[in-house]
Amino acid sequence: MPATIVVGTQWGDEGKGKFTDLIARDMNMVVRYQGGHNAGHTLVVDGQSFALQLVPSGVLYEHTTPVIGNGVVVDPRVLLAEIDMLTSKGVDCSRLKVSGNAHLIMPYHQQLDALHERHLGAAKLGTTKRGIGPTYADKAMRTGIRVQDLLDPKIFRQKLEVALQHHNKVLTKVFNRLPIDVDTVATEYLEECAPRVSGFIADTVALVHDNLESGGQVLFEGAQATFLDLDHGTYPFVTSSNPVAGGACVGAGIGPRDISRIIGIAKAYVTRVGAGPFPTELFDEVGDYLIDVGHEYGTNTGRRRRTGWFDAVMMRQAVRLNSLSEIALTKLDILDGLDTIKVCVAYEADGQTYEHIPYHQTVFHAAQPVYEELPGWRTDISAVTEPDGLPSAAAEYIAFLEDQIGVPIRLVGVGPGRTQFLDRAV
Ligand code: GDP
Ligand code: IMO
Ligand code: MG
Repeated sequence: MPATIVVGTQWGDEGKGKFTDLIARDMNMVVRYQGGHNAGHTLVVDGQSFALQLVPSGVLYEHTTPVIGNGVVVDPRVLLAEIDMLTSKGVDCSRLKVSGNAHLIMPYHQQLDALHERHLGAAKLGTTKRGIGPTYADKAMRTGIRVQDLLDPKIFRQKLEVALQHHNKVLTKVFNRLPIDVDTVATEYLEECAPRVSGFIADTVALVHDNLESGGQVLFEGAQATFLDLDHGTYPFVTSSNPVAGGACVGAGIGPRDISRIIGIAKAYVTRVGAGPFPTELFDEVGDYLIDVGHEYGTNTGRRRRTGWFDAVMMRQAVRLNSLSEIALTKLDILDGLDTIKVCVAYEADGQTYEHIPYHQTVFHAAQPVYEELPGWRTDISAVTEPDGLPSAAAEYIAFLEDQIGVPIRLVGVGPGRTQFLDRAV
């Protein structure tokens, strides 16, 4: 049985971590394929909360091998801190594998990310300032340093010197900052990080294929989301990788025929953190309610998320871009306290109605949502585990979304805990 992908369908923080953890129960390998520690994936197991940034969400099961694929960008200092954090909570990280081809986030990447944001002023993107964009830029420029370079101090130093020749000019001459010292970075990466990271470095492409060929179950865990995708998202308000399902092929080294199931994770409403267009954004007390009740603050950065109604137009696009075979709807319980719930079914712009995302971004930026209003259920559903146990209005809300999107909603989240979900397929 080939591979499964979990992919975010909105602007991130849909609950990918929780559902990856849940689905990983039946997998023996969980692979991250893009992004870095800009991700924050929260798992709540037996009341204990784990906020993961780099380590795949399958790490909590002893029967899974967590893999960081070639498409990920890795800050080794953050990786080691996360391993230490997990170990202190009793999680065994010894099975973790990291691709030697993954690119390293270097201290100058992080500094440049923050400086670039400041330089943009009011036009800033609202990045996580983790160095993600500059690291992928160096990868595309072919001046990046890869995880496997940690194993060869001579090569590492050579590459670092070349990179710093350029970046130090930018730091000093463009941003009026002090240059970064080669020796300081080399010492930190080669002497402090490399001895510990080296034990995790592996040919992850071979691992994934050996596992698939021997009948193993592989789950690919997307970070970020469809509308943060560098190619398909709301550019330039996007991340610098390809979170869409196709990104798993490039970022882990598999072909499309290896994939059989693609699960889109969608929140029952929408959130976004950082700048950029958001047609269904709420600025009223309902928006405040979603933030308060949904605890909509960034897992890592603590930033207040922006909130809005569910957007079926975006979801139709997410279905196309990812070939979604099903949807997992999360945080339905957060809508418990609302009298009525709106769903955006189309956009209006330029006197036209759009059922799919308008191609031109000027039109998209001006799009006004067309809403249908549905009754709320005003009942606590957080303990419901069977579809029959849902209030009829909640069941109707799910059916309405399904009808709008055209893809089955199989799993539904009713709370953060591992057991707080229902499976509509059984
Ligand atoms: P991710 O980045 O997609 O993994 O999502 P985050 O972990 O950043 O944010 C999702 C938040 O919602 C986390 O705090 C989860 O514990 C929580 N969560 C996930 N699913 C549900 C759900 O169905 N109901 C509730 N109330 N919380 C959920
Ligand atoms: P998970 O995996 C939500 C957003 C940032 C910013 C934009 C670019 O937890 O869903 P970057 O640092 O990547 O260059 O920032 O992308 N962003 C996220 N928003 N969830 C995430 O990850 C995100 N990762 C990046 O807020 O708008
Ligand atoms: Mg998150």
